[in-house]
Amino acid sequence: MLSQEENERLSQVGPGTQMGSFFRNYWIPACLSEELPERDGAPVRLRLLGEDLIAFRDTTGDIGVIGQNCPHRGASMFFGRNEESGLRCVYHGWKFDTSGQCVDMPNEPPESNFRSKVKALAYPTRERGGIIWVYMGSRVTPPVMPALEWSLLPPEQVSLSMLVQECNWAQAVEGGIDSSHVGFLHGKLGRTFAQIPAGTGRYYSQKDNAPRFEVMDTEYGFVIGARRNAEEDSYYWRISQFLYPFYSMIPPFGTAGNLSGHAWVPMDDHTVMMWEIEWNPSRAITEEERAREYANKGTEGPEGMLPPSTGPGGRWHPRLNASNDYMLDYELQKTSWFSGVPSTQIQDIAIQESMGKIFDRTKEHLGTSDTAIIHFRRRWLAAAAALEDSDTVPPGVDVPDTFSVRSASMVLPKTESWTAQGRRVWHARPDVAVASI
Ligand code: FES
Ligand SMILES: [Fe+2]
Repeated sequence: MLSQEENERLSQVGPGTQMGSFFRNYWIPACLSEELPERDGAPVRLRLLGEDLIAFRDTTGDIGVIGQNCPHRGASMFFGRNEESGLRCVYHGWKFDTSGQCVDMPNEPPESNFRSKVKALAYPTRERGGIIWVYMGSRVTPPVMPALEWSLLPPEQVSLSMLVQECNWAQAVEGGIDSSHVGFLHGKLGRTFAQIPAGTGRYYSQKDNAPRFEVMDTEYGFVIGARRNAEEDSYYWRISQFLYPFYSMIPPFGTAGNLSGHAWVPMDDHTVMMWEIEWNPSRAITEEERAREYANKGTEGPEGMLPPSTGPGGRWHPRLNASNDYMLDYELQKTSWFSGVPSTQIQDIAIQESMGKIFDRTKEHLGTSDTAIIHFRRRWLAAAAALEDSDTVPPGVDVPDTFSVRSASMVLPKTESWTAQGRRVWHARPDVAVASI
């Protein structure tokens, strides 16, 4: 439970808010590089932390991210002409380069130097791992980017896609770090325990539906250990990572060695871009694995995506959404899916959106299974307050190498510590094998 005031502080991300300032200290993944495929190609609308922005790739291949409204009289730069190293507003021809500097003002007298005094809002950008990243903070030299493993691998070893979710970012994060919903919300009926091979992670997950949670703070966020009974003398541990400011890493199942996680990037207080990230440190992601991503299901079938629009995140709106009750089917609820919503990814979105855009957290009743959620709120609120009160640099910002970690799943003798054993395998290094059962 949070107070009304805490709930607002946690949820609001716009300029000048406490959490908004906190987020602006980190590099933010804004869109895929492939959404701006060509030099001098069509600009793209972005909405990040409550700000409307326009991204474009200029003649030299550099990426500009500038305020949507032209500094002259506010026309949308989405209509701009992307030409000769800058984006030119089509209203009166003012042109801006990727740094936001006005470089041409053709409707003013040639002797005027007014243009040198006009600058559009512009943010530093980088391209890494097939992603365009934006730094919206106040440092003149942005911090070093976090060494997230998936952002440093060759593109064939990573799958990236997104879904726009119509609720507050923190509500979505809380769904992502809440392991205790998995057996319920994502449960399938009629799959008996006996059908799952004994001794596997899925077997132990099913066998013990009430895991115990432990949380350990790290420089880059925190690690969650979910403990289930395995055999007489052992526990099955699922070890998740949660990294500042909004990244999760989900423990793997089985031996494929694929890791996965999410980034929950706030578009505004009521909308979040949920990134789905899958990677394999030692081999390419197969076509079959890519096809499993919801956003790769095409725009034709009952599942899959709505036809793309030019709005912010316009490529990433799922066909199953609130307007059709996510195709909730009560017959299905009796016969196959516990939830009745016929898609695992959409089950999460459906239920998180069903709470309202920002749930009134003064009305909650939190139990022991909510340990990670309570921890997340406490740490994020404290870090955002410390930034405002005493200018304390938010955690992780200046230790980018510590982000080089993985999730893991393992069976350990009851006498062994999950943090000691986990630490041996959660470093994202080529010589460390993925720990997965
Ligand atoms: S509004 Fe953009 S040039 Fe006038
Ligand atoms: Fe889920």
